[in-house]
Amino acid sequence: MSPRESIPAVPHVAIIPDGNGRWARQRGLPRNLGHRRGCEVVRKIVRAARSLGVRQLTLYAFSMENWARPREEVDAIMSLLDSYLKRETDELVERGVRVSAIGRLHLLERDVQDALRELERRTEANAEMRLTFALSYGGRSEITDAVRKLAREVEAGRVDPDAIDEKRVRAALYDPELPDPDLLIRTGGEHRISNFLLWQMAYTELWTTDTLWPDFSETDLRRAFEFYGSRERRFGRTGDQAPRRGEA
Ligand code: IPE
Ligand code: IPE
Ligand code: MG
Repeated sequence: MSPRESIPAVPHVAIIPDGNGRWARQRGLPRNLGHRRGCEVVRKIVRAARSLGVRQLTLYAFSMENWARPREEVDAIMSLLDSYLKRETDELVERGVRVSAIGRLHLLERDVQDALRELERRTEANAEMRLTFALSYGGRSEITDAVRKLAREVEAGRVDPDAIDEKRVRAALYDPELPDPDLLIRTGGEHRISNFLLWQMAYTELWTTDTLWPDFSETDLRRAFEFYGSRERRFGRTGDQAPRRGEA
C-alpha cells in the first residue's frame, strides 16, 4: 500500500503551530531560535501535506494578539517571515502550491507585504494545493471587519439588512473562498482556539498534541489524519443521517 493510500484524505487542514518559545527555552536558547526552527518545520510540513493529498492548508503564522509581544520578538518573526516568503517562492511555484494570506495585512511591514504580494502573484496559476497564511490575523477582527464592510453596503443602500444571511457574512470575510477546515491541528499542548478562524471552525474536528511545533514531524501529521479518519461528523444531525466517517 502506498503511504498516500494508507491514511485518510483530509481536504482542508488548519494548523496552530505553537510551542516555538518553549522549545527554545528547554534548550537554554533565545526564543527567536525556536521561531527559526519553527520556520523550517513549516517548510517540511507544507511538503508533507502536499504529498498526502491535502487540498488546502491554512497556517496561523501570527495573530493580532501576537503584536503585543516584545518588540524584538515581533521584529525577529517578521524578518523570518520575510526571508521564508522569498526563499520558498521557487519551490512553491514548482510544487504547484498556490499561496495567499488572510488577516489585517496592512499592519505588516512593507517588505513583508511586498513579498506576500509577489508570492501570491507568482503562484496564482497553481492548483495542486492552496496554502493560506493567517498573518496579523484574529477571528474576531475578521468578523468585525466583515460587519463593517456589510454596514457600509447597507449605508450605501446596496444591501437590505433583512437580506443579510450566512452566505453574505461569509462573502464579507477576508477570503470568501476559504473552505471550512475539516481538521484543526494544534501543537504545544494547549487546548484552545486562540482566536483562529472563529467563523470557519464551527464544525471542524480538533486534534491537539503535546509535541512542540519545532519537533512536529510528518509522522505526527499522519497521526492527526488517522484521528480525523476515525471521527463521525454529524453536523448537528443524528447518527443515522450523518455522512460517513471523515466525510463532509
Ligand atoms: C508559536 O510559538 C509561534 C507564534 C505565536 C508566532 P510561541 O512563540 O507561541 O511558543 P510558546 O507557546 O511560547 O512556546
Ligand atoms: C497562537 O499561539 C497563535 C499562533 C500560533 C500564531 P499563541 O501562543 O499566541 O496562543 P496563546 O497565547 O497560547 O493562546
Ligand atoms: Mg504559544
